Amino acid sequence: TRRIPFVVANWKINKLQSEIAEFLDNVNSKVPSQTVVETGIAAQDLFLADMVRATQDSPIHIVAENVHWEDAGAYTGETSPRALKDIGATYVLIGHFERRKFFNENDSTVNLKVMAALRNGLRPIIDVDEDMSKYAQFMDAEPSVAQVASALAGVSVDQIRNITIAYEPTWAIGSGEAATSEQAQKAAHLIRQTLAKLYSPVIAEQVRILYGGSVTPDNASALLQQPDIDGVLVGTAALDPVKFLELINIAK
Ligand code: G3H
Repeated sequence: TRRIPFVVANWKINKLQSEIAEFLDNVNSKVPSQTVVETGIAAQDLFLADMVRATQDSPIHIVAENVHWEDAGAYTGETSPRALKDIGATYVLIGHFERRKFFNENDSTVNLKVMAALRNGLRPIIDVDEDMSKYAQFMDAEPSVAQVASALAGVSVDQIRNITIAYEPTWAIGSGEAATSEQAQKAAHLIRQTLAKLYSPVIAEQVRILYGGSVTPDNASALLQQPDIDGVLVGTAALDPVKFLELINIAK
């Protein structure tokens, strides 16, 4: 089975209400059907409900950037997976490098969040990175493989179909220096091999693996041509509606 390409914008905390409205007005009608290429936009929680409404007639999925691991309760300041499902979010980023770096996200909280998302009918996009110290040699992507295995602990064969993995080398995020398509393919392949070991080769072939880190319309095509790269997770370039649409066209 062919894996449908997946282009995800991650706006982080960069856009305000009026900018979001303008962006969606611009792109909504130009995004192809999700049987051709799937698209998603991640933004700050407080804009997500508006974004769900604004994309009602468009194939764009609305994506949360984080989620809490409990469904409800006394967790001041967090967003519950139930609430995200309730407002119509489809996907949720879990374990982004910036969460791990600035907010003490670790493999165990990532796993709790993955389980919480699945339990509530949200589809996790699990972010794995590899350590900065590996950059010089790009010896191997073992840390990201370990992150995949621990993120998926307890995820059943049936649930794995709802999982997307995003590989983002730390040094490529926001640096303007993307991994080469060979480097990214090597890491994506290692991740797929890990999935094959954890589940089965057949299931590993069904899971989408994205590359993220300084993706632009200039380098996306080479990345997306790699056999194990099924899509891109895009920060900076996806703030621009023209570039976002270009990336979607390249992916289809
Ligand atoms: O989630 C997106 C990534 O962190 C990549 O950001 O495209 O600005 O490098 P970037």
